[in-house]
Amino acid sequence: MTKIRIAIQKSGRLNEDSLLILKDCGISIDNGKDQLKASARNFPLEVFYLRNGDIPQYLRDGVVDIAIIGENVLIEKGDDISIVEKLGFSKCKVSLAVPKSVKYKSVSDFEGKRIATSYPNTVQMYLDKHGVKADLHIINGSVEIAPNIGLADGICDIVSSGSTLFKNGLKEVEVMLKSEAVLAVSPQITDERKEILRRLQFRIQSVLQARQ
Ligand code: PRP
Ligand code: MG
Repeated sequence: MTKIRIAIQKSGRLNEDSLLILKDCGISIDNGKDQLKASARNFPLEVFYLRNGDIPQYLRDGVVDIAIIGENVLIEKGDDISIVEKLGFSKCKVSLAVPKSVKYKSVSDFEGKRIATSYPNTVQMYLDKHGVKADLHIINGSVEIAPNIGLADGICDIVSSGSTLFKNGLKEVEVMLKSEAVLAVSPQITDERKEILRRLQFRIQSVLQARQ
């Protein structure tokens, strides 16, 4: 039997909420510990647990058919991939921040400065829009430590509660975008799987309505 293949975040903030929405859709997943792949018992669905940043490429290649992913990750790495549903959870911002002690006036204050980030395309688009040239340092995690260790003058990262910024003595100075979890679809999905997607979307929409 044909199944639709869905990618969700392996670990991290999206993982739990993604599994919860599937559960609320009445889909129960056989979850072996540390398994990277699992099947649903009562719906033609296979779950692949993947790293967030890898998901756009898997969708593009058609290795998975759909994904629950942060809109911000698609903006960064998958602006060619279509979103069929906004899911209303895992809301966050992608922001620029600088040390609290810095007197900040406008985005042009970043001219010639070093910015550490895991979202180089998002930052570059924003800087280009404002005609600002800065040096981007790409790092994959714990970005907020960069100014403290002299690696950068500012950072761009995800802000959710704001506690990581606060703990690292930083302040948010520009909100570049607002994001939430979305349901994204591979450009390569087959008609047969589109039909399964239609059934899944119907359930998701009912769940989202009930949550309001
Ligand atoms: C994420 C993100 C921010 C933080 C934002 O990091 O990169 O650092 O969460 O959340 P907050 O505003 O609620 O503090 P994560 O903890 O996932 O670790 P990583 O950056 O090392 O991947
Ligand atoms: Mg972080």
